[in-house]
Amino acid sequence: MIRSQILGCGAYLPRKVLTNHDLSAMVDTSDEWIVSRTGIRERHIAADGETTSDLATLAAREALRAANLPPEAVDLIVVATATPDETFPATATLVQAKLGISRGAAFDVGAVCAGFLYAIAIADSLVRTGNAGTALVIGAETFSRILDWQDRSTCVLFGDGAGAVVLRAVESAGGPHDRGILSTHLHADGRQHDYLYVDGGPSSTQTTGHLRMAGKEVFRHAVNNLSSVVDEALEANGLTAADIDWLVPHQANQRILDATARRLGIAPEKVVVTIDRHANTSAASVPLALAEAAGDGRIRAGHLVVMEAMGGGFTWGACVARW
Ligand code: UT7
Repeated sequence: MIRSQILGCGAYLPRKVLTNHDLSAMVDTSDEWIVSRTGIRERHIAADGETTSDLATLAAREALRAANLPPEAVDLIVVATATPDETFPATATLVQAKLGISRGAAFDVGAVCAGFLYAIAIADSLVRTGNAGTALVIGAETFSRILDWQDRSTCVLFGDGAGAVVLRAVESAGGPHDRGILSTHLHADGRQHDYLYVDGGPSSTQTTGHLRMAGKEVFRHAVNNLSSVVDEALEANGLTAADIDWLVPHQANQRILDATARRLGIAPEKVVVTIDRHANTSAASVPLALAEAAGDGRIRAGHLVVMEAMGGGFTWGACVARW
């Protein structure tokens, strides 16, 4: 059978760092409140004129370097983003042009913070069915552009960044110990719209709008949905939490990471954490965390890696990969 294997990871974070102390000069907040409620200490903010496709392209180039492949090898680009450069065309087509290539398919996926899980699930399906041989899967966001910088309950939580992985078709015996993506699991419940959304858009208000969130409600659903989708993913592969080498979660809040790992019975040392330095980068958070843990040698060949994320919609999902 064919499986898609993650051959390389890449990351890009804008140069500008905004600390909690910086924020406390902008809104009525404090480093103590932000750290104790979220675990966030600082976040990166895109420069004026630096767009989501710029971030995505830099992360993609690093992922291709790590995979030891030229851009010309790519025949599918999927960008998960809720902050595209333009309403259309897809940010993925801008990335394709910036990489200097013109073959294959390129499109965006919108599932907000769960976007990377949706994107990798779709790319994995296209690779396994022979529709693509080498895929770039990118999560890239400039949430700083859709934050209400007067709203302290949301503006302290998010940051900008991009992460990317290269997937490649490989022959596999198909067992849980053979390399590649073992399974993906996606969910949505559109009834929960009002808890996390942007109050604008081309069809409704003809404005870009700002992010609005009922944080407590999102928190409560996040721990339930994330632990249940990881249970579902493990069960589908005949695995248990004890088999996990690395949990790579969406980075929304340190307390969500802790509560989810506790509920699943996963030791905190097996959870990859970037929230303190990146804040919540929406669709970029999982590939940024993957790139960090693969780059510093924590994730190694043969390890079982479980990714999970939840975002507006609600949408949520998980992916199990044997590295
Ligand atoms: O990516 C997926 C989407 N996002 C998430 O998963 C986020 C999920 N939710 C959360 O992470 C948390 O609910 C928050 C971090 C957003 C909030 O934490 P909380 O413990 O639920 O706090 P809260 O909203 O209940 O607010 C507690 C207090 C309020 O004051 P009063 O009403 O108790 O006097 C807020 O006004 O904290 C106040 N507050 C702040 N104070 C200082 C809210 N934001 C701030 C702030 N600085 N930045």
